[in-house]
This record gives sequence, structure tokens and C-alpha cells, in this order.
Amino acid sequence: MSDPRLAELSRLLPALALKTESADLAFYGRDWTRRWTPAPLAIALPSSIEEVQGIVRWANAQRVALVPSGGRTGLSGGAVAANGELVVSLERMNRVLGFHSADRLLTVQAGMALEAVHQAALGHGLIYPVDFASRGSCSIGGNIATNAGGIRVVRYGNTRDWIAGLTLVTGSGDVLELNRGLVKNSSGYDLRQLVIGAEGTLGIVVEAQLRLTDPPPASQVMLLALPSFEALMQVFERLRARLTLSAFEFFTDRALHHVAAHGAQRPFAEDYPYYVVTEFDGDSPDAALEAFGTLLEAELVVDGVIAQSQAQAAALWHLREGITEALARHLPYKNDVSVRIGAMPRFLAETQVLLGREYPHFEVVWFGHIGDGNLHINVLKPEAMENADFVHECGRVTALLAQSLQNHGGSISAEHGIGLVKKPYLSSTRSAAEVALMRGIRRAFDPAGIMNPHKLFDADADAVVPA
Ligand code: MLT
Ligand code: ZN
Repeated sequence: MSDPRLAELSRLLPALALKTESADLAFYGRDWTRRWTPAPLAIALPSSIEEVQGIVRWANAQRVALVPSGGRTGLSGGAVAANGELVVSLERMNRVLGFHSADRLLTVQAGMALEAVHQAALGHGLIYPVDFASRGSCSIGGNIATNAGGIRVVRYGNTRDWIAGLTLVTGSGDVLELNRGLVKNSSGYDLRQLVIGAEGTLGIVVEAQLRLTDPPPASQVMLLALPSFEALMQVFERLRARLTLSAFEFFTDRALHHVAAHGAQRPFAEDYPYYVVTEFDGDSPDAALEAFGTLLEAELVVDGVIAQSQAQAAALWHLREGITEALARHLPYKNDVSVRIGAMPRFLAETQVLLGREYPHFEVVWFGHIGDGNLHINVLKPEAMENADFVHECGRVTALLAQSLQNHGGSISAEHGIGLVKKPYLSSTRSAAEVALMRGIRRAFDPAGIMNPHKLFDADADAVVPA
């Protein structure tokens, strides 16, 4: 280790795995945003809470910034290390630590992949219902950091609804066991909930107690083609009133075009402007068919297909879940916004006009978790355009979008987090008084300002770790 700070870290923690090869720095220093050039100091791969604690204490002494790192599937730059930080990868802390049948709790290390959590829960005849397309790569610690949402929020809620306890190594090196799996705990501030969604700014989550639940009875998956944006929310409300909705996911024909160009088969002979993949838990095929019939009659849908097998259900889901990967090569500028469901129709109409006016020269792809009031608006980079110009122009339009969100009481980030990407727009979602309080909370957990600095919002001007 030529860097004396790393040599000291190795002296303090001789068993700690460290990587400094340039390929590793490039691999662990980036997330799915692909916008920043990775430049971490090194990568640490702790195997225990004691090692994480040792790293944090060393970082405080050496004034080195830390970037907690899971699967790095984030889309807001929250796991980017472009400034000489030490990346703390939890990938070696990826085991199930225990299952508590009476409590229906699974205790896991934070580096465990979401899909592995799903499998472990099924092994006990239960489910962990938070789910989304990056399940194979993302880690539960990263899910906690962004309060990840996904495709089942409409029925099951966000990550924060399923975290019964977590263990945190704070920015000052204390180990906190927060809530310890309790269902009821009325003993002051719920620090666990502060940590969920904090984007690694308060400390490093090392373990979590996950609440599990019963698997749903056999579910029905349906793909609907819609004639208009206006029909969307009406279809949602009608289906929700009749059936047990567990997903309601929307995408445009542009989105389908990209997924098809990436290898998927188009579902209908004709093209339609809008599509919805929806799933119902426990409703019979007849009930799904009947609901579809009434939508057709009301001219709210123009075509549809109800999956007749698991394989067909997976193929329908792929049309929605394959969008992110299909768009990735176009370096999309991502907007991940939310409004109250009731505000959605007006917000949709206004945003469509706004983007049509401001982005006539860009391809804009819409999709998202419309049943949660969460839209993903992806702007694709024209091949001939310089990345910096593209980001600048998209940023300008995001500022207009942020203004509109403020008028509608919405949020500039529904589920991806603020990270670096949305930091300039935080004030559209949070008041100055709120940000001041968040700053104070951050300082209380991390007085030296070593935890994921410059993400979410800039710490105090006198923070120890420079920009
Ligand atoms: C999704 O809903 O597919 C994810 O949030 C990823 C994305 O927005 O690209
Ligand atoms: Zn999403």
C-alpha cells in the first residue's frame, strides 16, 4: 500500500480485504448513472461489523470520506466515488443470520442481494414482498439507503414498511441496534426510519431484520393497451375497486419500441399509445376477464392479454421490467418523480405539455409505477450531442419539472434517491427548514462529515472532508 493512510488501515485491520487495482477502482467507483468518472482511493471489503467499525474510526482519524456500496444499481449517483473516497463494499457481508418464526423475521447482512432475500424467505414458506427489476444485483443495504420502492408498492408499500430493525455503524463509529424487530416501540424517535432513505449519509447499515409475510394465492397477470393518457387513472381506479391489485405499471409505445429492439416480442399485432402491466393477487381468472370486459366496453382499454401460464406472465412482465436495460445504451437522463395519486391526472396532462414544449428535439420515454403516483421520465441522449450539453439541457428542464412538482406538492425523487443527480432540486421537495434539520441530524450521526459527503445535500461549509 503506497498510500500511508491505507498502510495505517491495513496495520489496524490486518485481515481486512482491500483492492487498489485500477480496474477495481473503476468497477466499484461507479453506479448505473455512468455520468461520473470513478476515482476512489481504494475499495475495502469488510467481513464483520467490527471491521466496518474499524474502517469508520480510521476514516475519522484520517479524514477520509467513505462511500457505502451495495450492488451499485442506483440511478442517482448515491454510490459514486469520484473524489478519492474509500468505497466500503458490503459484498462479503451477504449471509442470512437467522429466521425467527414467531416474529416472521429474517435477519440478514446488508450485502445480501434482494433476489437472495426472496429465495431465503420462500425457503420458510413466506415472502419478502419488496421487488423490482434489479433484484439480482441490488443489495438489501442499498434498498434501505434509498427506501427502494418498485413494482409492488401499490399493495405492499416501500422498503421502510418491511424493515423491523437494523444495525448501523454511525459516522462516528458507534454501533446502534435500532428497533430490534419490535412491532410496537413507542419509546422516542424512531432512528431506524431516519436511517432508511438517508442514502448512506448517517452511517453504514450492516444488518437488517426483514419482516416477511404470507405468499399471495395464485396471481393473474394482464397486459392492457390504452387509447389515451386520460384513461390511465380511470383504469387504475376501476381495477383497484374490483380486484386485489398488487401491481399497476405503465409504459408508452416508445418504451415498448426499445424493449422490442432489445429482443422482446411485441405483444399485439397493432401498436397502441400506452400499456399497463397489472397483477392481481388471489382473484380468479374469471374475475380478471370480467374486469377486462368492462374496461373494453367503457373504451378505457382497446386490447389486452391475460397470461395463461407462468412463462407468459414472465414475458408480459419483461415488457415492463426490460425498459431500463433497453434504454441504458442511450445514456438516459432519468427523472423519477411522484405526486399524490389524486393529483396525478392534472400533473400528467401538464407535464406532457411542458415536455412537449421544452423537449421537442429529444426522445422522451415515459414509464413507471403509476398506481403509486410515481413516473419515470427518461430523456434519451441524441448520439451526436456531447454528454455535458445534454446533461445541461436536461437539468434546465428538470428545474421546470421541479417547479411543477412544487406546485403539485410532489417529490423530485420517488424511489431512486437524491444522490448527486437530483441534489440541485432538493429544495423543490423539502423546505429550507427541513433541510436545516436534516443537516443537524447528519451532523449528529457524522460529526466529521465522512459519510457519503456531497450526496443528498452538501454538509456544513466547515465539514472536514473537502469537495
Ligand atoms: C424501474 O422502475 O424500472 C426502475 O426504477 C428503474 C428505472 O427507472 O430505470
Ligand atoms: Zn421504478
